[in-house]
Amino acid sequence: MKISVFDKHFCGGRHRPAIPNDGPIALNVKLRETSNMFCLKDRVAVVTGAARGIGYAISRQLLLAGATVTLSDIDDKGLEAAHKKLCDEIPGVGDRLFYAHCDVSKDDQAVKLIEDAHARSGRIDILVNNAGMAQLSMFLELDPAKFRQMMAVNLFAPFILSQAAARLMMKANYGRIVNIASISGVRASKGRTAYGSTKAALIHLTKQIAMEMGRYGVTANAVLPGPVDTDMARTMHTAETRKKYHETVPANRYGTEDEIAAAVVFLASEEAAYLNGVICPVDGGYLAAGIQFDDIDLKK
Ligand SMILES: NC(=O)c1ccc[n+]([C@@H]2O[C@H](COP(=O)([O-])OP(=O)(O)OC[C@H]3O[C@@H](n4cnc5c(N)ncnc54)[C@H](O)[C@@H]3O)[C@@H](O)[C@H]2O)c1
Repeated sequence: MKISVFDKHFCGGRHRPAIPNDGPIALNVKLRETSNMFCLKDRVAVVTGAARGIGYAISRQLLLAGATVTLSDIDDKGLEAAHKKLCDEIPGVGDRLFYAHCDVSKDDQAVKLIEDAHARSGRIDILVNNAGMAQLSMFLELDPAKFRQMMAVNLFAPFILSQAAARLMMKANYGRIVNIASISGVRASKGRTAYGSTKAALIHLTKQIAMEMGRYGVTANAVLPGPVDTDMARTMHTAETRKKYHETVPANRYGTEDEIAAAVVFLASEEAAYLNGVICPVDGGYLAAGIQFDDIDLKK
């Protein structure tokens, strides 16, 4: 899928009804496949939460750039469908595309995922901690069990997976860990006590890994997506949320899965060797923005 032009009602590859006052939406550049920019031939990658959404797009772009990829997810049917779709789209990819069931919140499954990928290919170069869950709840009503579950998936799993991968990567003196955090890990919004706190902690975990593993050629960086029109966003974002995002994101639109994947491929590349501990928002300018006006006459 190549996304070249966005019209007013086209978001993340899906048509949706008009939103009043959502303003002009235009992605006025033609996105090249990231594979035309970076070569990941002979690199071995594991992506969690790869059955759909951002994880699927990341896996696809890593494959197009030449990497061997293990897709993993808790959703077996989605995983099989993703595997088939990629095999159908990319000729001859079968011998460097694998998939494995993994509930990342189970330590033993997480460690096994890394060890199996390493055993299969004799190396592991890239780990993308993308699997995540989100549920909204106001601070006073937040169920501690839900918070703990989100911590297990969004924070503790990347810790276990990164630890297992880094132990192998440091022996090869090479590794790229990319954690998919969120703008919600920096800015607080209503209902995101649990989700935002897990993502803020993931951002700090990234810096810790970067600090301690840099000397072994292993980098750790975090990508912070802004709103992207995936199943997660469709569940969490009401029409009102969508309208607010259009108003507050300077790009005036949602991002696409491929725009997140492009940043990940770069951070996973050899060329990004000196980027370490970087917190990289891919958010259309959301985190940079202050108050905004449609029109303001500065001379008054
Ligand atoms: N979509 C957005 O607007 C947005 C914004 C900021 C950050 N993010 C982050 O991007 C990442 C991907 O989100 P998405 O929008 O593609 O979501 P999504 O819900 O569409 O996909 C998430 C994937 O993770 C898998 N998953 C969930 N729990 C799992 C577990 N315990 N073990 C293994 N796999 C599990 C799901 O089955 C699913 O395939 C998440 O970490 C999310 O927090 C998304």
